[in-house]
Amino acid sequence: MIALGCDHGGYELKLEIKKYLDEQGIAYKDFGCNSLESTDYPIYAKKVAHAILDGECDKGILICGTGIGISITANKFKGIRAALCSDCFSAEATRLHNDANILAMGGRVVGPGLAVKIVETFLNTPFSGDARHMRRIAQIETE
Ligand code: RB5
Repeated sequence: MIALGCDHGGYELKLEIKKYLDEQGIAYKDFGCNSLESTDYPIYAKKVAHAILDGECDKGILICGTGIGISITANKFKGIRAALCSDCFSAEATRLHNDANILAMGGRVVGPGLAVKIVETFLNTPFSGDARHMRRIAQIETE
């Protein structure tokens, strides 16, 4: 189950992502927002982070205008690894190396065609499981 969240800056791109997920038969839960009305991105980052940490969802996709505010917020949560991606290479690498559990994108940065490819790459790339990457991920959690 994929957790989706966005603010007004990411709302239109989220609709495109939902269309893709529907076509692929990929289950998701949409935590809002639900319109173009101005709202605050931390609300949705927190909902999606909680859904993953509670085990309700396996991965998340967060979208705001730049992807920056919403990923900064999600990364405040221990155990969340939100990767802001604007290209497929990064989306693949962050799954292989960082075992990222949230993909963040900027609705004002990437177009819908590229965004769908980024989502496809992110969802279809497994974590490599390499010891060096596991060691580094463990190090993220300590100060
Ligand atoms: C909203 O205007 C915008 O600030 C927000 O979507 C995001 O880009 C923040 O990082």
